[in-house]
Amino acid sequence: MEQIQKYKIRAEKIIVKYGKSIALDSFTASIPEGISGLLGPNGAGKSTFIKSILGLIEPASGKIKVDGVRDDMTTIERRDIIGYMPEHQCLIDNMEGFEFVSYMSRLSGLPRSDAVERSHAALDFVGLGEERYREISSYSTGMKQRVKLAQCIAHDPEILLLDEPTTGMDPDGKKEMLNLIERLGGLDKTLLISSHILHEIEQVSDYVVIINKGRKVKSGFMDDIMKTDEGRYKLKILGDRKDIHQFIESLKKNCEIIRTVDKQKEVAVVVSDLDKTDKLFELVEESGIQLRYLRPDLLTLEDFFLESLSGGEKSGDRSY
Ligand SMILES: Nc1ncnc2c1ncn2[C@@H]1O[C@H](COP(=O)(O)OP(=O)(O)O)[C@@H](O)[C@H]1O
Ligand SMILES: [Mg+2]
Repeated sequence: MEQIQKYKIRAEKIIVKYGKSIALDSFTASIPEGISGLLGPNGAGKSTFIKSILGLIEPASGKIKVDGVRDDMTTIERRDIIGYMPEHQCLIDNMEGFEFVSYMSRLSGLPRSDAVERSHAALDFVGLGEERYREISSYSTGMKQRVKLAQCIAHDPEILLLDEPTTGMDPDGKKEMLNLIERLGGLDKTLLISSHILHEIEQVSDYVVIINKGRKVKSGFMDDIMKTDEGRYKLKILGDRKDIHQFIESLKKNCEIIRTVDKQKEVAVVVSDLDKTDKLFELVEESGIQLRYLRPDLLTLEDFFLESLSGGEKSGDRSY
């Protein structure tokens, strides 16, 4: 299904190299309004892409277009439009949380009185109370992440780039960070959240870009990715090893096997492109196994992620 959507960031065939190694290899992606996830394993090129959008890294070739940003703008001018929460430490330890956020918003161009007011509002939003008057060196990781988010949103930019925003937080802190992200998404902003944690992206994103080894492997709207795929089923079977083996071999001739999970007693199989379940019942009968469960299967982002990264190889499909 085609969706009419305004893209806020467009990257076309970006190449970024660090010395001889290629971090982004002809990377192309478009980021729409709303919350987008940039999902990929460590070293995939997520931080490099985010820094390229900010203009902190100049790609060797390719083009990045950000709504409202002109090529001749300085990094500071870009920051007015794009808020950035870096992955690594960017805080000044001997400053108070409040002092740091207002200092950063003044750097982003806000006049002093606005900076004070907006910094308080941003710190309220991220849920940092009286602690804002303590030195950052005394903060927990969770509090530091909140201050990093506050400095990113204080000057009210339209586009927010959050690089691994839940890093180092405990489970409750992660949940709250994801809630804050969802609330920001509700304010008509464009957010790009990088993460190597699939379920975090799955939870908050409207759109996802999967990146691996500097290349885009897949992208799309979550609604499209998560919809039921006709002909895709999950089944659970019981029986002798030999019979199960024979059943799976003949099943392979009739549909595609996405994965098999062997739990000793029971084997779960996910298949796609199965035209008729009648055929399946026939095969079950022929091989003498027991069919314990058969249901249409939803294509989850996890399948999408694993299938993309395995480059077509089917995970778990080796024991037969
Ligand atoms: N400053 C750097 N110098 C050399 N190599 C780098 C540098 N930054 C990143 N890389 C390499 O570029 C690749 C992509 O890194 P990065 O963008 O940080 O990935 P991610 O954020 O997805 O973990 C990795 O192989 C990483 O080792
Ligand atoms: Mg990174």
